[in-house]
Amino acid sequence: MSTLVRTKVKDLLKMEPGQEVLAKGWVRTKRGNKQVKFIALNDGSTINNIQIVADASNFPEDLFKRISTGASLCVRGQLVASTGSGQAVEIQASEIEIYGECDPMRYPLQKKDTSLEYLRTVAHMRMRTNTFGAVLRVRNAMAYAIHTFFQQKGFVYLHTPIITESDCEGAGQMFQVTTLDLDKPLPKNKKGEIDYNADFFGKQTSLTVSGQLEGELGATAVGEIYTFGPTFRAENSNTPRHLAEFWMVEPEMAFYDIKDNMDLAEEFIKYLVSYALENCMDDIRFLNDKYDDGLIGRLRSVTGTEFVRLEYTEGIRILEEAVKNGVQFEYPVYWGVDLQSEHERYLVEKHFQKPVILTGYPKEIKAFYMKQDDNGKTVRAMDVLFPKIGEIIGGSERESSLEKLEGRISELGMSRKNLEWYIDTRRFGTVPHSGFGLGFERLLLFVTGMSNIRDVIPFPRTPKNAEF
Ligand code: 4AD
Ligand code: MG
Repeated sequence: MSTLVRTKVKDLLKMEPGQEVLAKGWVRTKRGNKQVKFIALNDGSTINNIQIVADASNFPEDLFKRISTGASLCVRGQLVASTGSGQAVEIQASEIEIYGECDPMRYPLQKKDTSLEYLRTVAHMRMRTNTFGAVLRVRNAMAYAIHTFFQQKGFVYLHTPIITESDCEGAGQMFQVTTLDLDKPLPKNKKGEIDYNADFFGKQTSLTVSGQLEGELGATAVGEIYTFGPTFRAENSNTPRHLAEFWMVEPEMAFYDIKDNMDLAEEFIKYLVSYALENCMDDIRFLNDKYDDGLIGRLRSVTGTEFVRLEYTEGIRILEEAVKNGVQFEYPVYWGVDLQSEHERYLVEKHFQKPVILTGYPKEIKAFYMKQDDNGKTVRAMDVLFPKIGEIIGGSERESSLEKLEGRISELGMSRKNLEWYIDTRRFGTVPHSGFGLGFERLLLFVTGMSNIRDVIPFPRTPKNAEF
């Protein structure tokens, strides 16, 4: 079989009949009778299978007994027009080689309809299902589109560190990184505190929660940058929207104010969703039909609508009005409160029925680096809120005044020791600048219509779960 080059299933399905072809892949299903066998073969290049038709009399007796769901095959044959419905072409097999059998008694994906919950327990195998194949291809396409979007605009892809000494969001949700031997008594200084001089970096370090602060260093040097990498949060949130390890895209732009920032965020998401609709339709249609028949409609509606831009104060007024009219929320609503996902979704899904960019948040519930408004109460934060998801993007214009930034750092009682390098951006040639962070898996929840964030990343890390 070796002289013929293998063709991927995706390409086979587009070829004209009447050619000798070689296909390789895994068996999805096998059916037939004594004379003729039908095998649906998939190699992951597309959601669709190629049908293999085999005249049983041309093959050894036991061959088809050894072929079951999950087995891997190499098939040579003639590509012919299909008589069955559902596909234009199929392969009339002349040779079939089994690469690896797949014991039906033990194969975890043997059952036809396995729940998403069950599949999480076999995450090492679930990528072979139609659902996760589709999700992974969409994930890949979105990663590519993110780079394309920023590269076309001349942004510089900046690699920010994974290991860091600073807590960007100041929320204390960092995973510590250490080589200190936790089985032994820890080295202490005279004050009785842990002596990090003895640790690998000679100081206390953690996994980053955000590349933003280093991103600002890049933006105030080369103008416009973006990061795209893993971030880590040790928040004990067991929700369908939180991961302990997630990927974030963080553009940061010199000379952008909050309005420029909102414009970019809106253009960015619309680009990504349009890209998915143009390039991933087979997978999206499958996900739409299997899990969420509102998916395609929602994707189209986002690309064609102008996002609402709303002040936090006005958002709270709308929510208070809703409560007065009998809407029940689990968490209370008042000016100053950090909005819960139920509040965000009310604004987006019920009140406006389109994405909302909320700005002008109370400074107390936002991070230290955000530009303070003249009223002394609010900051130029912006959260982009999406249907089904809630917050998909968080960002702000940054405080560019040295005095105000220092003021906020001391007000919050933050340690300046680890931040002098950051403050230098305001000391030396400070400029107005802005940026935001898009949660990559939140985007994927939206684009795939999946309802649990554990199902849009190959190996989810959540509290008490770091398997594989
Ligand atoms: O709103 P966040 O915390 O903002 C930042 O980290 C800023 N430093 C970003 C910036 O301005 N450069 O996080 C940004 C986004 C959220 O809107 C959300 O989409 C996602 O990251 N996110 C999470 N996604 C999955 N699991 C979690 N635990 C997440 N926490 C935040
Ligand atoms: Mg946020």
